[in-house]
This record gives sequence, C-alpha cells and structure tokens, in this order.
Amino acid sequence: AVPGGQAPPQRSGSATSVRVEAPGKVNLFLSVGALGADGYHPLTTVFQAVRVVETVTARRQALDARGAVTLSLEEPDASVPTDASNLAVRAALVLAEATGVEEGVDLLVRKRVPVAGGMAGGSADAAATLLACNVLWGTELDQAELVELASRLGADVPFPLLGSTAVGHGRGDRLTPLMTRGTYHWVFALAHTGLSTPAVFARFDQMPRAVAPAATEVPAELTNALRSGDPAAVAAHLRNDLAPAALSLRPGLAEVIDVAESAGALRAIVSGSGPTVAALVPDGATAARVSRALEDCEHVAGTLRADAPVAGARVVG
Ligand code: C5P
Repeated sequence: AVPGGQAPPQRSGSATSVRVEAPGKVNLFLSVGALGADGYHPLTTVFQAVRVVETVTARRQALDARGAVTLSLEEPDASVPTDASNLAVRAALVLAEATGVEEGVDLLVRKRVPVAGGMAGGSADAAATLLACNVLWGTELDQAELVELASRLGADVPFPLLGSTAVGHGRGDRLTPLMTRGTYHWVFALAHTGLSTPAVFARFDQMPRAVAPAATEVPAELTNALRSGDPAAVAAHLRNDLAPAALSLRPGLAEVIDVAESAGALRAIVSGSGPTVAALVPDGATAARVSRALEDCEHVAGTLRADAPVAGARVVG
C-alpha cells in the first residue's frame, strides 16, 4: 500500500487481494423537484464525503468457485443482504459483464456507515467494489468508466468514487467537483432503525408543496461559504427538501435536531433521506458536548464524530 496515496500500480492479475476504502456522505444541499416519468426526482445537491469509511476487501476465488461473486460482512448484520441483492455483489457482476472478464471475487465488507441511514453506505460499498475488482482483475477501466458503471448501479454510487465535495444534478449522479476550503466537523446521530430511500421519496410526493421552489443551481451563498471555509456561514445555508418527509415518517427526529442545536451545534439537519441526523459543529469541544447530549436522547442509538471533506475510494492494501 502507498500511505495516503492512490492505487499502487498493479500488474494485471498480480494481486491475490485488494482492499479499498470509500467514504459515506452528507448532503449539504438537497433540492428535490417533482417526480419524473423515469421514477426519479430531479435533484440539485451538494455532496460532502465524510470520514466514516466503508472497507471492502476483494479476494480471488478458490479455483473450484471461479466466476462466483460472494460477499460476507466482517460483523454479521441481519439488515444487510449478502446475496445478489447486495449492491456490492451487483457492482462486481456489472464490472465483469462490462469488461468480459470471467473472474469471480470474494468480498469482505467492513461497515461503519449506518445501514439505511441516508449516508450512502451501500453505495460506498458498491463504489469500493468497482475499484477493488478493477485492480484485482486488472481490467484497467479509468475513473470516468468506473463512474459510468457506478451511475448504472444507483444514483448515489458515483459520488464515493470522487469523494471531497461535489455538486450533483440529474438523479444526483451527474457530478461536478466543488472547490472548498477548511475542515468541517460533524456529529452524526444514528437512529435505532433505518429508513428506506424510496419510502422517503414517496412521502415527499404526498407532502404539501414546499415553500421554497426546487432550485436548479446551488445558491452562491453556499458555494461562497464553502470556498471561504466558514462553517457558520455553511450552516446558515444548509438545506434538505427531504427533511419534512423524513420527519413525517420519524417525528422523533425533530427532538434529535433540537437536542443537537441546544448543545451547541451550528445547525443540525436530516442526512439525505434520513434517519441519521448530521450536526455541524464548530470545534472538537463542541463535538464532544453535542455527542454527549445526543447519547442521552431516546431516539438516538449512538453517535459518530467525523471530519470532512475526505478523498474518494482508494486502494489501501
Ligand atoms: O438510484 P437508487 O437505486 O439509489 O435510488 C433508490 C430509489 O430512490 C429510487 O428507486 C427512487 O425511488 C428514489 N430516488 C428518487 N430520485 C432520485 C434518487 C432516488 O426518486 N434522484
């Protein structure tokens, strides 16, 4: 492994295993338009990659299992499928299909991003798998080709390949990197159970029309705040149009947001489709205070502290 570096050069088929890390995300801005004929909502969003990281180790299959794609979790979790319905398994199959390789792979996934939490953990697993198999199999697709395959797997899969901060358009998969300055400190409040993204979008469709019309561009106030590295200014311009739908499905989240803000968060928002609440804090001391307050809240299963932005998927071993 190259410390802190990109993928080490690999001869085609030389490695017996490849380990990749890919980050979870928070949406700093998420403006949602009306449901389209394709079953998706047009989005204008800003993704920030956070230091809550998924790790996928891709290992060559034993000879008698050649061609098979198998997956196991480092810590078994009944809410995560390990069959072909897992997005990471589909990622390996899609890469094999697109490149014509007849290799299989055995995937070992270490999850740190909350499951069904609105932080794209499953998408990070798929992104990590694309990169890991691309190196393991020596298929040598470039970043743009991996991003194209990623967008076929799901709207949130391209972003963990890029990492850092990016604007998303379309289904959220058409990405443009965004220049930012500074480090942002987050405290994430995890829920006891996840929320299904399609269910949150379906509730969004049933809600009364939002006061703010859907935005087609990210407001200059937010991009300026990110460029100046001022977390208080960023906090003032955070927006999530899915929040009312997530709050309607999980009324307890309003209290979680209140607790975080009363304990000193600059602002707390629903992360993506929820139910994770993301609290932007000014410094480490406030992070500790906000975590403690959240841990005492009955709707909170636990907290994670993480800085951001961080790099996208990279080979670490
Ligand atoms: O692309 P992905 O499979 O992650 O999306 C899951 C579901 O979330 C979609 O089937 C759709 O119901 C909803 N979605 C949406 N609009 C988006 C992204 C996702 O309605 N832009």
